[in-house]
Amino acid sequence: MMDKAVVRVALKTDKPAIQELTTRAFGQEDEARIIRRIETDGDAQLQLVAEMGGRIVGHVMFYSVGVREKLGAIGLGPMSVDPWVQRERIGTMLVNAGLTMMRDGGAPIVFVLGHDWFYPRFGFNAQATEPFTSIYKGPHFFGLRFRHGPPMSGELIFPRAFGP
Ligand SMILES: CC(C)(COP(=O)(O)OP(=O)(O)OC[C@H]1O[C@@H](n2cnc3c(N)ncnc32)[C@H](O)[C@@H]1OP(=O)(O)O)[C@@H](O)C(=O)NCCC(=O)NCCS
Repeated sequence: MMDKAVVRVALKTDKPAIQELTTRAFGQEDEARIIRRIETDGDAQLQLVAEMGGRIVGHVMFYSVGVREKLGAIGLGPMSVDPWVQRERIGTMLVNAGLTMMRDGGAPIVFVLGHDWFYPRFGFNAQATEPFTSIYKGPHFFGLRFRHGPPMSGELIFPRAFGP
């Protein structure tokens, strides 16, 4: 029988495994590079990993999003689950755990640019992004509002890691 996946906060020692997993899950190195850059620029807010039988099989990153100034908005991504254990709800566990921590920590809103077959199940929707402007706006850009309050509108400034 397969071990059960456990979600925990990522440690410094997990970094090589996170890089390897992200590169494998996306089939390219761009997202692993984005993770490194988010970290070195000081934009990371939280990283969780899913561990199974001593192996890192999933990862999710949460980072700061600026709106005029830092008002607590958060972005989700990159995230990945090992191709061998996808569709076993590990991604769901990671997102649920991370969103709970973000909400409990007082984050007003979380944004994600991602699959429309994955994020809406957590409450992410297009409506929450309507008052904001962003270069990422489009059919795959979603928001999840946890509480009423700033930021309510404005231009979203994403970490330089996502830049051109
Ligand atoms: C997106 C990703 C993190 C999802 O992780 P996961 O652990 O496989 O997802 P879950 O098992 O929690 O899936 C939950 C639901 O999402 C949907 N879903 C997940 N993978 C899907 C797929 N490949 N195609 C269609 N729907 C999918 C399903 O409805 C699934 O529920 P079900 O299995 O009961 O039908 C994973 O597929 C991945 O790492 N992909 C490569 C990297 C990537 O695209 N990252 C996200 C960038 S936005």
